[in-house]
Amino acid sequence: MIKMKAGIIGCGNISGIYLKNLKDSPLVEVVACADLIPERARQRADEFNIANVYNVEELLARPEIDLIVNLTIPASHANVDIAALEAGKHVYSEKPLAVTLEEGLQIISLADQKRLRVGCAPDTFLGSTVQTAKAAIESGLIGRPIAATAFNMGLGPEAWHHNPEFFYAPGGGPMMDMGPYFLAAMVELLGPACRVSASTGIQIPDRMIGSGPNSGKAITVQTPTHLAGTVDFENGSILTMITSFDIFGGSDLPWMEIYGTQGTLSLADPNYFNGDVKLRRPGQEQWETLEPVFECGRNERGLGINDMVQAIENHRDHRASAQMAYHILEIMHSFQQSSSEGRHIVLESRYRTVALNLLK
Ligand SMILES: NC(=O)c1ccc[n+]([C@@H]2O[C@H](COP(=O)([O-])OP(=O)(O)OC[C@H]3O[C@@H](n4cnc5c(N)ncnc54)[C@H](O)[C@@H]3O)[C@@H](O)[C@H]2O)c1
Repeated sequence: MIKMKAGIIGCGNISGIYLKNLKDSPLVEVVACADLIPERARQRADEFNIANVYNVEELLARPEIDLIVNLTIPASHANVDIAALEAGKHVYSEKPLAVTLEEGLQIISLADQKRLRVGCAPDTFLGSTVQTAKAAIESGLIGRPIAATAFNMGLGPEAWHHNPEFFYAPGGGPMMDMGPYFLAAMVELLGPACRVSASTGIQIPDRMIGSGPNSGKAITVQTPTHLAGTVDFENGSILTMITSFDIFGGSDLPWMEIYGTQGTLSLADPNYFNGDVKLRRPGQEQWETLEPVFECGRNERGLGINDMVQAIENHRDHRASAQMAYHILEIMHSFQQSSSEGRHIVLESRYRTVALNLLK
């Protein structure tokens, strides 16, 4: 099979793991990269032996490139996706799909119109943690799922990220940044969500860049940094979720648990692909670790790109899709809307995930 030629736009922090993983892909060949800051593109090209460094316009005009991997900051996701689609390219973007719901819908409708694919991170739900839990639920191991918890209890990334401002701008914050990992897992495990209620706030407004050339510079916080709420699913399950950049003393709350009528599943950090899934049934004191349904590395970012390319070849739906990302974007926005309007938000979008059978 001929590999699909891809161009990377956005050569910052996260591009390293994508380029490392895509180097081994039997389906995708990265032939070019671009960044608003040309030195960043040049540096990645040297590091990963990428043949061409272009500016964004030049890269989008290259006829041999069929796929754009958009690894820019959230505020640029929609613009870059739309420019890529206009140029006739498929696109796979980092999360979130877009900052606003309107932009998200615009991307989906342009892709439909152009008959092109849009994929979106996270693809962590395709890893062994979530897929092992999914197999357990489908085999009836915990009975009927009735409730769940998801806790992202941490600090923001300003201690280690050299350009952390975007994490505190619209499109960032602990919901837009970390929420997609938890919500993709929950939608994969519980199906479509239908309603959200929440309280949100900026509990710690004073922030400072902690490393790199801008160390010591104050960060303006423009988005909630602590969000607590509930999400109702169509299957009747109720998710309790907290996602925070404001937890300075740490926490022992579990990452994610699914409660069924005959047992509980406890899942590892959904930011990674291959953590433990534990089961406890009524009357048991100890957790039992389930055998993973397949072998998987810890950071397999790019799995969703390979799946999308394979899906294009085989004329099937791809899994880390814009439709799934839009449903997640609507859930995330609804936390803020519910808090500011003091009411439950009924979701308009629905998404049923695509069955997994041949990823590995
Ligand atoms: N850093 C992480 O650990 C991490 C993990 C998972 C996902 N992500 C996601 O990946 C994306 C990028 O994050 P990052 O940490 O790599 O950020 P970063 O700031 O390190 O890199 C982003 C790069 O995109 C470039 N850029 C911005 N707008 C552009 C545009 N319009 N055209 C071309 N280049 C543009 C910037 O110059 C920068 O080099 C974000 O959506 C983030 O949520 C990051």
